[in-house]
Amino acid sequence: MCGIMGYIGKGNAVPVIIDGLSKLEYRGYDSSGIALYNNNQIETVKKKGRLSTMVEKLEEKAGIDIGIGHTRWATHGVPSDVNAHPHADCTGQIVVVHNGIIENYAKLRKDLMLEGHDFISDTDTEAIVHLIEKYYKNTSLEKAVRKVLKEVQGSFAIAVMCVNEPDKIIAAKKDSPLIVGLGENENYIASDIPAILGKTKQIYILEDKELVILTKDSVEITDFDGNKVHKEIFEVTWDAIAAEKAGYEHFMLKEIHEQPVAIKETLREKIKDGLVDMSDLNIDEIFEDTEKIYIVACGTAYHAGLVGKLAIEKLAKIPVETDIASEFRYRDVLWTPKSVMIVVSQSGETADTLAALREAKRNGIKVLAVTNVVGSSVSREADKVIYTHAGPEIAVASTKAYTTQLVIMYLLALHLANVKSTISKEEITKLNNDLLKMDTLVEKVLTQQNKIKALAEKYKDIQSTFFLGRSFDYAVAMEGALKLKEISYIHAEAYAAGELKHGPLALIYDGVPVLALITQDHLVDKTMSNIKEVKARGAVVVAICKENLQETCQECDEQILLPDLNPILAPIVSVVPLQIFSYYMAVFRDCDVDKPRNLAKSVTVE
Ligand code: G6P
Repeated sequence: MCGIMGYIGKGNAVPVIIDGLSKLEYRGYDSSGIALYNNNQIETVKKKGRLSTMVEKLEEKAGIDIGIGHTRWATHGVPSDVNAHPHADCTGQIVVVHNGIIENYAKLRKDLMLEGHDFISDTDTEAIVHLIEKYYKNTSLEKAVRKVLKEVQGSFAIAVMCVNEPDKIIAAKKDSPLIVGLGENENYIASDIPAILGKTKQIYILEDKELVILTKDSVEITDFDGNKVHKEIFEVTWDAIAAEKAGYEHFMLKEIHEQPVAIKETLREKIKDGLVDMSDLNIDEIFEDTEKIYIVACGTAYHAGLVGKLAIEKLAKIPVETDIASEFRYRDVLWTPKSVMIVVSQSGETADTLAALREAKRNGIKVLAVTNVVGSSVSREADKVIYTHAGPEIAVASTKAYTTQLVIMYLLALHLANVKSTISKEEITKLNNDLLKMDTLVEKVLTQQNKIKALAEKYKDIQSTFFLGRSFDYAVAMEGALKLKEISYIHAEAYAAGELKHGPLALIYDGVPVLALITQDHLVDKTMSNIKEVKARGAVVVAICKENLQETCQECDEQILLPDLNPILAPIVSVVPLQIFSYYMAVFRDCDVDKPRNLAKSVTVE
């Protein structure tokens, strides 16, 4: 949550910071702000609303060589001009931008107010800057910041600028991400890689409890105690074009269409001679004698974990528990010895997922991370990592990250099945071959975009909807409902088709649309019985069904046909019509597709 961008260099701070913030808006967009050192003072502009609102207020400024900016997702204090970052001390000479939560801010604020500091916002962040002010007496900014870092509790990535030391930006982090971009006579600080794409490909990834001092031509990294830290430069492989819309109206639509390539990329190098070959990843050592797997994640990644459970249990015969990270971290887990945790996270920075990972490690459990971001916190802290190669995902609603996470879940299930010989070689080969066809099958579904768009237009004014399915279809139903809720703000619920009659059936009324997933050949009759139950009560049923099941599904009011596919792998393909449907529902309802209200892509707070 919240994005930070800072620049120091040759004099083009404003466009660089604005461009960086625009790439970080996925982290929050309640308000934004910028602080620039100009004519021996710090000028700050901040505004509630999208970045564009703030930019409109920003007078043209050339030749500014240092500044920090912020895009906010509100935690403490409503979205407003005054709560927007940067925050300043009483003198207006020190400014801070912050991502995270200062947990002891109430006490700090109270004490500082008693000492005479004036607070003007409701944020936790303001305590940081007044505390710096307090300690910045007859000393350097660096020393004052170091003192503050010892006093603040919680999670933070901060960047600090000060009138008296206009040649530097000081930044530090604990439990919130921060990277340094290295340029020639210019350097950057940012919350995430997309902010500096197109500016530099060389970065440092800061670890927890590290502080960096950026000047125009130097970057000095130390730990919070002041010990020098030597870091390897990390070369970014994503290119700037990948983070642009490339002619699509929204990132989400572009990312939906990127799925065939993302799937192919994720499979590449993990299949050799037609068979899953994960030997290069060296994951076998953590799965030796595994008796249980915990899959832990949030949001869409959690839904990928639900598919992972079904696939691993079916193919590799290892019991799997899939949990929501925010629940898992606080429950009394009865850790099974010889167990492994798999954390799934697109960003690799989700606070709850990271906390669950740490909990596992504290209990001596090995962790495998499945993430899209090289160098992210989960990738660094896990024992082993498998990357999805989805490329940068910018839209808040996850699409290509989900389908590539599914690919990894299947690869893992097949690999474990192979190692443990739980299914026959023939079955493994068949599933391998079918997995290799997934990109083409997704492409086929994408050709139905206009049909699905027409369906969305027809249903755009609905108040409520239900998604049904059994087994793998139920897991996909959950993802379909989430997509619709988050971007079109329509009430949507996913139910295991067999569970409806235990309560939710009472919610079915005349004309309510029900989207039914029907890809599991052995369960089609059961699901059809449930469909008849909702139809008998007036529901309009849209079936997302495999071509070969078309006959059986004839009674549904509408059908979106999926090409013939292996039912075990169906989620990779069956989710695509649901993504397109949600996308167009949001478009027809004039919703901000890529930046849905109240949400952020990377949730780095609890
Ligand atoms: C947010 C995003 C979701 C995402 C979830 C988990 O809620 O809006 O799209 O699935 O976080 O994020 P992660 O980066 O851990 O996959």
